[in-house]
Amino acid sequence: MTTSFPITAAGSAIDSTPTLRPSAHFTAERAWLNDPNGLIQYKGVYHLFFQTNPHGTTWGDISWGHATSTDLVTWTEQDVAIPCTPEEMAFSGSAVVDSRNTAGFADQERGETALVAIYTSAQRATGDGPAIQSQSLAFSLDDGATWSRYAGNPVLDIGSEEFRDPKVFWYGGDDGHWVMVLVEAVERTVAVYTSPDLINWTLASRFGPAHAVGGVWECPDLFPLIVEGTGETRWVLVVSLNPGGIAGGSGAQYFVGDFDGRTFVAERLTDSPHLTDYDWLDYGRDYYAAVSFDNVADGRRLMVGWASNWQYANETPTAPWRSAMSLVREVTLVRSGDGRHRLVQRAVLPADRGAVRVFETTVPCGPDDLTTLAVHGEGDERLLVIVDGRERTISCDRTVSGDTGFHPDFPSVDRAPIPEECGDQLDLQIIVDAMIVEVFAAGGLVTFTEQVFPRSNYDRVSSV
Ligand code: FRU
Repeated sequence: MTTSFPITAAGSAIDSTPTLRPSAHFTAERAWLNDPNGLIQYKGVYHLFFQTNPHGTTWGDISWGHATSTDLVTWTEQDVAIPCTPEEMAFSGSAVVDSRNTAGFADQERGETALVAIYTSAQRATGDGPAIQSQSLAFSLDDGATWSRYAGNPVLDIGSEEFRDPKVFWYGGDDGHWVMVLVEAVERTVAVYTSPDLINWTLASRFGPAHAVGGVWECPDLFPLIVEGTGETRWVLVVSLNPGGIAGGSGAQYFVGDFDGRTFVAERLTDSPHLTDYDWLDYGRDYYAAVSFDNVADGRRLMVGWASNWQYANETPTAPWRSAMSLVREVTLVRSGDGRHRLVQRAVLPADRGAVRVFETTVPCGPDDLTTLAVHGEGDERLLVIVDGRERTISCDRTVSGDTGFHPDFPSVDRAPIPEECGDQLDLQIIVDAMIVEVFAAGGLVTFTEQVFPRSNYDRVSSV
């Protein structure tokens, strides 16, 4: 396999990093990309909107890009859905199918159904006065192909400069209501609002600060899951934060608890003031702003994260595109022996693997065991996966993974505890797709997402 070493050439017409472009992880053809937005399935098509700069390969002029797929691994980029304007950028948010026409955007006599995007209007800083972040709507009457801003925007404005990333879903049956979770970023709180019509919103409750608070909170999500093997439902609240993530820089945590349509209550052990049901969504450096799809026909809870980290996202060595999404992950919920709940994540893989390599193995992790696996191509650049039974940790070491010199924070060794339920055997699934490595350990209880920029694409795993 031959590769040319990546050369950053923003705006150049030539794809200077063709072999680094992943195949099943979405990248924009010629643009910057950050958070996934507006994830929704409608009429059999999965829609992935994303934060993009239509004018370049670094963050700026933020708009909603758009891609579609029917299998979650082959994505077709569409026209920009919600462009920035001279007044505002379109920050992160979500999308819903307004099948009851609560907002009144659809002409139901003509058989229309509105898809409605709820995004943050981030006012451009002008130098006079604060740049307010408020929540706005855009809608589509042609199954997501084209979008119009609602004339009554914004629909939720509290005069804050740090109030963003609305995730909206319908709670209950015909007499239910819309729920919006969004962050008061600096306060490290998730605010819960409710609405009958997507237009008029009422504050219902707040959650936080809790668990990791070393950075601003961003991009929350809230969804129910049935605890595997029981008929019980628990709600999962996902909160990204930057910096302050477990591996440094950007990271995502989750809480498990109950939600009654207005208030999320995280679980605690009896007699303990501390939350018990929380964990990191991923222990690598590159899994941020992860949110789930709405309206998935078969009821699976499918999530996608942005596979990068704000520490160095603007400097990763690819062109004329920058950053990828993670693979889509199906998440389920299990109960451990001690009564705590944990998310299990499984990657949705292409039926025809193509350039995506998947390695599966089980390694011992008893008190005397130490195993190092090298994921590599030709040459000695490699990502190491180290399973240390003595310390009961799994690590991903990318200090010699290829080009690491573009930012001092990029080379890293990231670590996660081996879950107790593994005993002395740890199963590993290592997925490699050009510049993204995703590791699923312990059946998906622990994951790592790591970018790598090798000269020779990784296509093998050796034990060292
Ligand atoms: C998270 C984030 C969001 C914001 C968006 C702007 O990565 O900072 O809070 O809406 O990116 O692009």
